[in-house]
Amino acid sequence: MMLRISVVGTGYVGLSTAVCFASKGYRVLASTRNADNLRLINAKQAPFYEPMLAEFLTQSIESGNLHAAYSREEAVADTDVTFVTVGTPERSDGSINLDYVTEASTDIGNAIGKKEGYHLIVIKSTVTPGTTNNVIKPIIEEASGKTADTDFGLCMTPEFLRQGSAIHDTMHPDRVIIGERDSRAGGLLHELLANFHDPDTPILRMSLASAEMVKYASNAFLAVKISFANELANVCENLHGVDVTEIMAGVGLDHRIGPFFLDAGAGFGGSCLPKDVKALISFARSGGYRTSLLTSVLEINVAQARHVADLVLAELPDVDKSKIALLGLSFKPDTDDIREAPALKIARTLMSKGATVCAYDPVVKKISLPGYEALQYAQSIEDCLKEAQCCIVATEWEPFRSLKPEDFIKHMSNPVVVDARRVYNAGEFSAKLRYIGVGVRA
Ligand code: UDX
Repeated sequence: MMLRISVVGTGYVGLSTAVCFASKGYRVLASTRNADNLRLINAKQAPFYEPMLAEFLTQSIESGNLHAAYSREEAVADTDVTFVTVGTPERSDGSINLDYVTEASTDIGNAIGKKEGYHLIVIKSTVTPGTTNNVIKPIIEEASGKTADTDFGLCMTPEFLRQGSAIHDTMHPDRVIIGERDSRAGGLLHELLANFHDPDTPILRMSLASAEMVKYASNAFLAVKISFANELANVCENLHGVDVTEIMAGVGLDHRIGPFFLDAGAGFGGSCLPKDVKALISFARSGGYRTSLLTSVLEINVAQARHVADLVLAELPDVDKSKIALLGLSFKPDTDDIREAPALKIARTLMSKGATVCAYDPVVKKISLPGYEALQYAQSIEDCLKEAQCCIVATEWEPFRSLKPEDFIKHMSNPVVVDARRVYNAGEFSAKLRYIGVGVRA
């Protein structure tokens, strides 16, 4: 018998989980408190931009396998397994905010209190080590009047999807981590996920707290790699004939290191890496440990966006009379997410110096955050470049990669290109215009 699945929360993780299970024939109830999202999902419209999501959503709703509901109680009552995928944002001091998780735990506890039989609850939200066992379990037990392991199962399985490839990553993860209290719950989740994923996907089973820690450790290590590449990029900029992209290509071929996440650029952004590194630092501090490596990783990341702005400023003696073209606003390509986007930090620094910044992004059409009122927007790449004294490539969207030196020369009043994502061939561009690439001496 196929287990019936409910998903609490319909952000990137929740909705990807829901449509992927539904696409494989599972009956899925997705519960969201966001009335707009609820309406959109049932109308087969993706509430945010993510490649392949619209197709998967349409297919899931049309097949009748997926339905979105407001009520968490209804979602839990009619299913066997509940995945909790609500957000865990950061507090102003960098620590984790568990309000959505605790609220969801209460609601799920109330629901299973009224339900007959065993129910499996799986935490997928990113939570600091110890949270599932020490915070979530007591709340569910209290609200339900039931006992963990005997009446309901409690597991934690971290999610490693990347925005921009959320559907692919949900279907085909590198590995599955199962945190469990007991083998009944762990075994049930193992069977469900082994059937759902490719047969050769490694599945590791461990304690709840270890599974929680694997998520933080993974994101922290990715952040370390990026800040390492950015630190080396700054060293390379002071050397003749040394290009960080060649260095990292050479370094990454060592199989102990690996080629990924060694691209120097404008620093890491997004909803996870900055937040999770801060939460891990804060979590370690609460236990009396000072994470000097991770603190440096964040410092390098803050400095890197500022460094890109400085590369631009060094080219513009009359910055307050300059138009700067900014290509890309999202924190990475193939998403409309601007959280912690380096492009925004760069724009802000340049505007604070009096520059006119004109942005073009294939998906993000406006920034409605305070502090960005003066940002101008172009409707096309050409419009963006028109009459500009400098252009920064801040996000490596595909349409920007295919631009040639002639495109910049034709439209800009002064063709200076700051390649903050190293998308162009430095030799080809330097031969034809003023080219400044992160990690290579201009
Ligand atoms: C990340 C993790 O990769 C994922 O496993 C986790 O589940 C959530 O957090 P995501 O935030 O979607 O995913 O994006 P990711 O591809 O990791 O990129 C994060 C940031 O790092 C982006 O701003 C990207 O531009 C930057 N980056 C990435 C670099 O600057 N250099 C690199 O080499 C790789």
